[in-house]
Amino acid sequence: METILIIDDDDQLRQSFEKLLKEEGYAVTSAASGETGLDVLKKVMPDLVILDIRLPGMNGLETFKTIHQIEPKLPTIIMTAFGTTETAIEATKLGAFDYILKPFEIPDMLSVIKQALEAGRFMRSPVAMNGVPEKGLGEAIIGHSKSMQHVYKAIGRVAGSDATVLIRGESGTGKELVARAIYQHSLRSKKPFLVINCVAIPENLLESELFGYEKGAFTGAAHRRMGKIEQANNGTVLLDEIGDMPFSIQAKILRLLQEKSVERLGGREIIPVDVRMIAATNRDLEKALHESRFREDLYYRLKVVTIWLPPLREREKDIPLLTEYFISKFSKGIGIENPGISDEAKKMISEYPWPGNVRELANTIQKTLIFNRGAPIGPDDIAQTLGEKRINDETASVEDNQIFKQFIQKRLASYADGNVFEICMDDFAKMIIREALNMSHGNRSRAAKILGLSRPTLHSKIEKYGITLSTSVK
Ligand SMILES: Nc1ncnc2c1ncn2[C@@H]1O[C@H](COP(=O)(O)OP(=O)(O)OP(=O)(O)O)[C@@H](O)[C@H]1O
Ligand SMILES: [Mg+2]
Repeated sequence: METILIIDDDDQLRQSFEKLLKEEGYAVTSAASGETGLDVLKKVMPDLVILDIRLPGMNGLETFKTIHQIEPKLPTIIMTAFGTTETAIEATKLGAFDYILKPFEIPDMLSVIKQALEAGRFMRSPVAMNGVPEKGLGEAIIGHSKSMQHVYKAIGRVAGSDATVLIRGESGTGKELVARAIYQHSLRSKKPFLVINCVAIPENLLESELFGYEKGAFTGAAHRRMGKIEQANNGTVLLDEIGDMPFSIQAKILRLLQEKSVERLGGREIIPVDVRMIAATNRDLEKALHESRFREDLYYRLKVVTIWLPPLREREKDIPLLTEYFISKFSKGIGIENPGISDEAKKMISEYPWPGNVRELANTIQKTLIFNRGAPIGPDDIAQTLGEKRINDETASVEDNQIFKQFIQKRLASYADGNVFEICMDDFAKMIIREALNMSHGNRSRAAKILGLSRPTLHSKIEKYGITLSTSVK
């Protein structure tokens, strides 16, 4: 469980915040002043600090500076009121993760918290190359194949420089993992590492997220806001899925790479920034170039240092290593003994083409371990997990499924003036829950995991729909 430390002198805010974050599944400790906050921090090293900028005694900025000295990789979110935004910006320039204006909307705060915790994990969890994770902590890039040896060499060659790196490869080949390894082994490893996913951020927000804006730059820009690039100053930025970046923003990225400066939206000031850029994509950039979706100048600027990640099917030798690695890693995660795997199952895994690459292999192993409940993994178990996936792929489009269609048509016809939508949804919910319980042999925790529901939510749905199973339900 991740621990969050809240430092704020407002008792009410602290209490309601504590309640909210506990409900979200975080462990929370809090302090009413900078001094006590630092004491708490030294005792329980949290994963994130949320710090008010206006504090009695030692002020927020001073408190932040001390926290940053103690643990430079500990993400800190600054809370600020309208009048103290400039101080919050200053703290961010000094390395705070981000700042948020009071009063804030809870979903906004939760989203920043999630991002900050992820950034903290990325910065602190070491990525070992070509071996086992150090002291069982962190992650490792696994693979002995020739093509992976090239990747390790390339990482070693580029990590120590400030060169822009382009990482290419199919989906699930480990591009993000490699970006993190480069960061971990770079001279900037103590500075921020920020991942910006160009697809995850809506197109109309991406530009202001990246570059920030001045007050009045557009409707709703009530105050100045720093962009992510400025926030990551002195550090490293991973522009993930850069092949999907809108054309208009590509020009600004090129300018950033060439001139090492940004301009906030609606601003005239040229702000120098020093960031090391890593870009990643699974797109066919040459095709995008040809179709005028990707700028030629940016393409040539980025491709100077390219690391290609091979698809898994082209490095068959690595598949058994990865399989063993994931079995051991996920067994620990689920809290079971390593159940082992038979040679036939290994063979089957080695012969499968893995179109989703390492991510697909990892997911397959994880799912099989959950279903197997600690029994050794045999070929049938793998076949079942892979088979289920194939069936899922075939019925991926519910609209095309005739049986579904007929079922819905019948319902619509027979409940012409009732709340047919609710009734259909309830029927579906019942079916899905019953199937998940069957799959997990009645184990509710496992069924909840499969469904992506919390256990209490699943429990209340079972009660609501009066679901019973022929097998005994644990
Ligand atoms: N060589 C490897 N050794 C160990 N784990 C790996 C390796 N390659 C990938 N993984 C794991 O597989 C998963 C997918 O990797 P990652 O997210 O880096 O892929 P990606 O190339 O960025 O995919 P996408 O293009 O879909 O974003 C992650 O959980 C990662 O830790
Ligand atoms: Mg990725």
